Amino acid sequence: MHIAHLKLRNFRNYARLDVDFKPGFTLFIGNNAQGKTNILEAIYLLATLKSFRGATTSEMIRYSQNGFFISANIVSDVNHEIKIYCSHPERRISLNNHTVRRVSEIFGVVKAVVFSSEDRFLIQGSAKQRRRYLDYILANTESGYLDILQNYSKALKARNVILKQSSIDFGLLESFTSQVVQLGNKLIKYRQELVKNISPVIEESYRKISEGADNISIEYKPSVKKNFALELANCRERELALQTTIIGPHRDDVAIYINDKLAISFASEGQVRTIAIAMKIAQAEYISAKVGVPPILLVDDIMGELDKNRRVAFLPLLERSNYLRSQVFLTCTEQTWPGELINQIEAWNVSAGTIEKLKK
Ligand SMILES: Nc1ncnc2c1ncn2[C@@H]1O[C@H](COP(=O)(O)OP(=O)(O)O)[C@@H](O)[C@H]1O
Ligand SMILES: [Mg+2]
Repeated sequence: MHIAHLKLRNFRNYARLDVDFKPGFTLFIGNNAQGKTNILEAIYLLATLKSFRGATTSEMIRYSQNGFFISANIVSDVNHEIKIYCSHPERRISLNNHTVRRVSEIFGVVKAVVFSSEDRFLIQGSAKQRRRYLDYILANTESGYLDILQNYSKALKARNVILKQSSIDFGLLESFTSQVVQLGNKLIKYRQELVKNISPVIEESYRKISEGADNISIEYKPSVKKNFALELANCRERELALQTTIIGPHRDDVAIYINDKLAISFASEGQVRTIAIAMKIAQAEYISAKVGVPPILLVDDIMGELDKNRRVAFLPLLERSNYLRSQVFLTCTEQTWPGELINQIEAWNVSAGTIEKLKK
């Protein structure tokens, strides 16, 4: 799969951008704050309708404009055209000129995995980051998962609204409780199964990068121990006091261990970074193995962060994407230029929201 053409209008610091890409390596090189990451952000938006930097729509609309537009031609077994227009409060999305109404209709048409220095929050950030890591893989690999997740969130929200009312309609509460339990149990099962399967992949990736003896594993930590319905009923009083649903997959976490100790407390800064990349490599490899095509890799400025050994270990994943005619987009500054790839790269110079192809 690759993006053959990308068009941006009023997106971040791009007034207009029209660019053709080939499969393989594409590098954006430029000083800081020129618009390198903005392009990766636009590509990730095509994949997920979300910013990987957690930006809101208004942050992404070019200053003093009303809305942004992104479109892309995607070449895979079947070709696709995606168009996204976002303004306040409107959002219009189309896939092959048909209006998209549900996120699940478009999610996964472009599959992308981002590598950025923010990945350390997978270890150091809140449980939400780790749940999102799992959900992203499952939404890309299990048909139906995204709908279950979204329906769970809706039912949960409705249930929490009821819990906040001064006079509670217990009949209504029960009906949302049963939805939450039914959908929640499915989410927990999917996530537990995924964690079991991906833990060895993470460990393997870590070993390749670090050549070290550390052993890495992850474990799903559900807030529900055995029986969701029963445990929910048992915490009714606390729920009423706190006015929110206090157990369920929206409260679950993933424990990450290094040498059987919790990484968040015991891993060094370098180990944290290595675990983070290993988790992302595992994410890409898992999706790749499950769906049969490698995702597009968006590598934001991390080559400079990796020492030589780690770079060498990271390259095979990139090379494989290249070999399988997928795409790898990398960003760097002059100092972090990944010289190992010099012969295979198509490089663009990025400067103040314009890009220009560099001669080889
Ligand atoms: N909504 C926006 N409208 C116009 N410019 C923006 C907007 N958001 C960010 N920018 C500009 O984009 C630049 C940062 O782009 P980014 O891609 O993050 O830089 P880098 O090249 O360092 O990766 C900054 O100059 C910033 O002012
Ligand atoms: Mg950047």
